[in-house]
Amino acid sequence: MISDLTITRTREELDASRGDGPVVLVPTMGALHDGHVQLLKHGRPLGDTLVASIFVNPTQFAPGEDFEEYPRTFDADLERCAEAGVDIVFAPTVDTMYPTGLDTTVMVDPGPLGSVLEGAVRPTHFRGVLTVVAKLFGLVRPDVAVFGEKDYQQLVLIRQMAQALCLGVDVQGCPTVREADGLALSSRNAYLSSDQRQQAPALYRALRAGAAAAADGPDAVLAAARRVVDDASIDLDYLALTDSDLGEPVPGQDARLLVAARIGKPRLIDNIGFTLGSG
Ligand code: PAF
Repeated sequence: MISDLTITRTREELDASRGDGPVVLVPTMGALHDGHVQLLKHGRPLGDTLVASIFVNPTQFAPGEDFEEYPRTFDADLERCAEAGVDIVFAPTVDTMYPTGLDTTVMVDPGPLGSVLEGAVRPTHFRGVLTVVAKLFGLVRPDVAVFGEKDYQQLVLIRQMAQALCLGVDVQGCPTVREADGLALSSRNAYLSSDQRQQAPALYRALRAGAAAAADGPDAVLAAARRVVDDASIDLDYLALTDSDLGEPVPGQDARLLVAARIGKPRLIDNIGFTLGSG
């Protein structure tokens, strides 16, 4: 099954196999699950060549985070890529991505949006994400790139970067894939104990409760969501209501409700979109 898949490690190998037609890139850190498969399936019809990158990016992990333990399942990832119709897997080494070392002199500054929400808890995270995505765009030179809506702030920042730095890449978001009980798929769900796994779907229940109160305005949305997390005894990092670009929410327009909480070892994040009423 994986015989049609070309595995590349360098820019030269990519160039030799990418073809002349439109290229679609799905960047990943591997440990592929059904959420990634959805991204690949979304990307497949958008171009001639579908590239999946697999690279656990050290610069987006702070010291003490789970870079070393992050699940690495390369052989299984190749199977999933082949099943989803990927043409090329790009799996570079750290040296290929950071030829001048990890303290590379040029890093992408995410601007003010990089230090709120996830960025308030992980201050160097988005600098690392945007830097590696910019490098991947430079190496793969895709026409389209696909990212999951689960990491909503990441998606908004990558869109902003592509526009601000005139990268010429169409950045597309893809809806979150969930377990039957609503828990958003994430490679880090593997860290949950069985009790924590029971508790975790309360995050999505809270988002849905918030969305169900949308017609009643911002205060009602936040109160409804908070009731659910309090009932589930979840210790929130944040619960935030924004517009779809993560600015101030505007009644009558598209809004996003975002939540983050540490449940045992992993920090879980999730979000939902809806139209906000004025109450
Ligand atoms: O979402 C991820 O898996 C990563 O942050 C990304 C976009 C592949 C960059 O390393």
